[in-house]
Amino acid sequence: MRTAVVTGGGTGIGRAIALALVDQGLAVTITGRRASVLAEVPGVRYAAFDATDPAAVAAALPDLPSEVDVLVNNAGGVISHDDTKTRWLANYESNVVSAVLVTEALTPRLAANGRVITLGSIAGRRGGGSYGAAKAAVEAWTADLAGELGPRGITANVVSPGLVVDTEFFGDSMTEQRLATLVGQTKNGRAGTPADVAALVAFLASEQAGHITGQVLAVNGGAHLGR
Ligand SMILES: NC(=O)c1ccc[n+]([C@@H]2O[C@H](COP(=O)([O-])OP(=O)(O)OC[C@H]3O[C@@H](n4cnc5c(N)ncnc54)[C@H](OP(=O)(O)O)[C@@H]3O)[C@@H](O)[C@H]2O)c1
Repeated sequence: MRTAVVTGGGTGIGRAIALALVDQGLAVTITGRRASVLAEVPGVRYAAFDATDPAAVAAALPDLPSEVDVLVNNAGGVISHDDTKTRWLANYESNVVSAVLVTEALTPRLAANGRVITLGSIAGRRGGGSYGAAKAAVEAWTADLAGELGPRGITANVVSPGLVVDTEFFGDSMTEQRLATLVGQTKNGRAGTPADVAALVAFLASEQAGHITGQVLAVNGGAHLGR
């Protein structure tokens, strides 16, 4: 049975990805900091740890599969802080360092023809301050990763969502007006869902997607095109 690790798999997009991979017949392990949240997801194993902490990542290795066919670096999000340096470093840690640490730790365990899929964001190309800059860095890192892992038949890609609702991403910061603005930027007139993103990740994770690597694939309803 193929195996998958999905970071941040307890909520939102990561949860939908984990469930889509279970549907494809994979044995899925999800991760996140809150064990109580992870424990609520049906049909998966879980390991609770902070992906930005190298010691915590190392300590979690016994709880992760000994061979990994699919790694989805989904953990991340926007971290607000008034202090500029703190905010920039925190967003970099949450979105870039987390993915780098987990991927490096699992690289020896990646199966031949494995898949590494990392969540970017429309903000990585449109702005978005320290968060957008961190997601842009995810794209640059993935280009390197595709070259490093390619000889083993392993692909590395970024899936870059636009607005996705029904996640914890916006907390209580989303206003009706902002939602209407973001939906108005799409060409299909709707917000994205975790299932929209999970469908693409599931395809990239499949054995049929072996010649797609080093790519940034957007799931944003055409919002990147502007008006
Ligand atoms: N929603 C959107 O509109 C949108 C758009 C573009 C990109 N994205 C990206 O999509 C990904 C998933 O976001 P989402 O919308 O599903 O939001 P979410 O519900 O907040 O999911 C983020 C997940 O990551 C986990 N996480 C965060 N920091 C972590 C850390 N240091 N160590 C381990 N786990 C950590 C969280 O769990 P714990 O708090 O329990 O650790 C949570 O389950 C993120 O990378 C986000 O940047 C989202």
